[in-house]
Amino acid sequence: MTADDHSGHTCRVCGGKVAEFIDLGQQPTANGFLLPHEADQVFLFRLAIGACESCTMVQLLDEVPQEFRYHADYRYHASGSASHRRHFQHNAERFLRTELTGPDPFIVEIGCNDGVLLGSIAAAGVRHLGVEPSTNVAEIAAAKGVRVVTEFFDESTAATIRAEHGTADVVFGANTICHIAHIGSVLRGLDTLLAPNGIFVFEEPYLGTLIDGLAFDQIYDEHVFYFSATSVRNMAEQYGLELVDAEHIPMHGGEIRYTLARAGARTPAPAVRLLLSDERTRRMSEPETFTTFGHTVTMIREDLLALLGELKAGGKRVVGYGAPAKCTTVTNYCGIGPDLVPFVCDSTPAKQGHLVPGSRLPVRPPTAFADPYPDYALLFSWNHAEEIMAKENDFRTAGGRWIHYVPEVRVR
Ligand code: SAH
Ligand code: TMP
Ligand code: ZN
Repeated sequence: MTADDHSGHTCRVCGGKVAEFIDLGQQPTANGFLLPHEADQVFLFRLAIGACESCTMVQLLDEVPQEFRYHADYRYHASGSASHRRHFQHNAERFLRTELTGPDPFIVEIGCNDGVLLGSIAAAGVRHLGVEPSTNVAEIAAAKGVRVVTEFFDESTAATIRAEHGTADVVFGANTICHIAHIGSVLRGLDTLLAPNGIFVFEEPYLGTLIDGLAFDQIYDEHVFYFSATSVRNMAEQYGLELVDAEHIPMHGGEIRYTLARAGARTPAPAVRLLLSDERTRRMSEPETFTTFGHTVTMIREDLLALLGELKAGGKRVVGYGAPAKCTTVTNYCGIGPDLVPFVCDSTPAKQGHLVPGSRLPVRPPTAFADPYPDYALLFSWNHAEEIMAKENDFRTAGGRWIHYVPEVRVR
């Protein structure tokens, strides 16, 4: 298929025309880790994104049905890293201090996963509800004392929650809202669910990080939308909501924490105007910016393959570090298989013993890393670089070197 075949794609937010700007080829679902004997059962789709010519929203062209992505065997466990646990604990404390202060406050989290945030809310005895369709992680949350319903959030779930529990002071979502293709239904649901002065807070990968930071491996099936303050503001306006705050946060290499309120209910923080104007100055939603991004990503692929080829020819051993969803994108896009990277280490028990979807790199526990140390480690979990490099300091001392590929290929 050519890009032209997709020129008819319409925007999921406003119905405008979506112009494709990068195609990362046929890809599996990024978290669809398989056992070696299941490796052939991989489901492939065309991973390409484009920008809406009307509302600027960057989005996938083709999508994978949500039931294929979120199910009883969902491999991403949010409590997997210390920095995530800390971040969401701070988040919970902040809500408890600033928003959940009335006589009987209520918070709803869309995509609560293993309860990394709501665990702290439950411990504080505050009324809450997690909405989490992936039953395996929802069970972990429930075991932490979190009240959770195993459903996909949409306007009908919102109506049920409102009928059972009343309105919510806070609706929260992290690394989840950009996963939901039926985002219009979510926003209509908020109109039902939010208290008059309630807020909808969501923390998601930032288009600025993708484009300027060249984090192209953030593109995968689960990331249906790539938000900017500009596109979020435009989207909110269509649903009677208003963007009232936007903060940079360091998660996943650089995200934005957006706060929406009912239009006119809260005074927008100065940060909103500043970020909108910064995005204009950076020409973040201009077609030329997207075209340049596409070319640069092609160059990263060439550089990374050249380096891995050279190291292999020189008899050097390279092992992957971390099997995040990003690893699926980059290995399938570049064609990195076990011939170049014989295995990857990851601390998530649910991924160990499985293969990275499509590229089939075996996932082993972190203990395999030092057994013996490789010459080079290709850092797929680059957003946790500090935590990992500190933990694996002995590798560096033993002469090992880290390979990074975002925003460019370099060895450290
Ligand atoms: N909030 C956690 C988990 C993010 S992973 C974090 O930031 O680390 C995304 C989660 O969203 C998954 O657990 C997935 O099952 C859930 N999810 C996907 N679609 C959803 C929907 N429509 N409603 C609620 N949760 C959803
Ligand atoms: P995430 O960036 O999407 O949270 O995924 C991080 C992945 O990296 C997850 O699969 C766990 C893995 N990881 C390790 O293997 N070791 C580590 O020290 C850290 C922080 C993460
Ligand atoms: Zn649009």
